[in-house]
Amino acid sequence: MSHYVAPSMLSADFANLQRDTEMINRSEADWFHIDIMDGVFVPNISFGFPVMKSIKKYASKPLDVHLMIVDPDRYIQTFRDAGADVLTVHYEACTHLHRTLHAIKQSGMLAGVALNPHTPVHFLDDILTDIDLVCVMSVNPGFGGQSFIDNTFRKVQDLSTMRQQSGASFRIEIDGGVTLENSSALVAAGADVLVAGSTVFKSQDPIQTIAGLKKVHNTSLA
Ligand code: DX5
Ligand code: ZN
Repeated sequence: MSHYVAPSMLSADFANLQRDTEMINRSEADWFHIDIMDGVFVPNISFGFPVMKSIKKYASKPLDVHLMIVDPDRYIQTFRDAGADVLTVHYEACTHLHRTLHAIKQSGMLAGVALNPHTPVHFLDDILTDIDLVCVMSVNPGFGGQSFIDNTFRKVQDLSTMRQQSGASFRIEIDGGVTLENSSALVAAGADVLVAGSTVFKSQDPIQTIAGLKKVHNTSLA
């Protein structure tokens, strides 16, 4: 299966959200990545339900929602109602992660767990088969446009091995600092979903850039 590309709407032009959403519809992108920040878990506030619903109104592809918020259990059903298809919570924000993941699935969404750069992948050992997606943060969450942390490669390789050995089937997503230069190596290391914000939206031709991010899979395995 070819890897997915999920442009992060955090880097879209918020004064032209319909235009940018329709541009992603026309592109080869697979998911919309939606970053929700509460100003507590991360030192930034992004946007909430009204903006997310506006994207959903025009989006023809699934919404991959990344919650950078404390106590995400409070809003699981509300995110479902606002159009989330994948809901990812942070390992560091969940006291009862197993319960949270099952509540997400029960609401009809895929359940993801995001790991901050300092969080070891092996902290997931005992819930691997409960997870639909592991989001490996390759920057400290909170802002777009930061540079990629190289240690991520090792984490992706380790996760890939853990998946194989446990018989689990979660997708591995990389979020932060993904570029046309490192995308190929990330897919080769085991990444299934590449999130890209500034690489897509700050480029001259976002549709072409997305096509470039999609192509690396074949190239690297050829
Ligand atoms: C960071 C967010 C990312 C961010 C990625 O906290 O979770 O999704 O938008 O942006 P780039 O691709 O610009 O690093
Ligand atoms: Zn994100």
